[in-house]
Amino acid sequence: MITLKSEREIELMRKAGNIVYKTHQYLKPYLVEGITTEEIDSLADQYIRSQGAIPSCKDYQGYPKSICISVNEEVVHGIASSRKLKAGDIVTLDICADYKGYHGDSAWSYAVGEIDDEKKHLMKYTEEALYIGLAQVKPGNRIGDIGSAIAKFAKEHNLGVVKELCGHGIGQNLHEDPEVPNYGISNTGVKLREGMTIAVEPMLTAGRANIEILDDDWTVVTQDKHPAAHFEHTVVITKDGYEILTGE
Ligand code: MF3
Ligand code: CO
Repeated sequence: MITLKSEREIELMRKAGNIVYKTHQYLKPYLVEGITTEEIDSLADQYIRSQGAIPSCKDYQGYPKSICISVNEEVVHGIASSRKLKAGDIVTLDICADYKGYHGDSAWSYAVGEIDDEKKHLMKYTEEALYIGLAQVKPGNRIGDIGSAIAKFAKEHNLGVVKELCGHGIGQNLHEDPEVPNYGISNTGVKLREGMTIAVEPMLTAGRANIEILDDDWTVVTQDKHPAAHFEHTVVITKDGYEILTGE
């Protein structure tokens, strides 16, 4: 079921989204060689709680950590550990916060030190793919318009689209209808309406798009071990476009 949010609900989602944004800004300076992903997770947990919110990932379907931290060939749902970041890594922080019962969700990939050209290309065009997708978000357009624009753009830049993972509606639940795939056929699927809140999140790969799940039952990696990047914003559909909720 797709729910349209009231102005009061949107205001709470702005607050949740802003806490997610501020958590990203808070963590950015810590993403240097030598820090463990567990240390990043615990900083995130403390910060989100200090803002009066709860990290939505914690215990979500049994997920053990407070945010998802995915390095290099890890696409999503990486689990913090004693692993240390190294120069040349890319690390994706996927951060979700619950503020007074409403969720915000935003993922961003970051470079640790100097990265190679394959990773630079991947990061630049995956971030751009997010805004290419968002440009389709307006009343009257359809879900398929978002995915088809992202997939076309990815193809033009020689990047793979992970098809098993999608964006999603969001609100009182972290994942709500509709699904927002990163591929599709324009002018098909659910019609977008003012007051819908969705997370758009291209997950693109530098090599092939095939994925597998590690033995921890969570971490999604590329089969060919080439890197993946992930950029995500939560937005509300407005009268003539969208407003980013996971921003300043
Ligand atoms: N932001 C993630 C997503 O949209 C949420 C992960 S839930 C977790 O899929 F349980 F894996 F943390
Ligand atoms: Co999401």
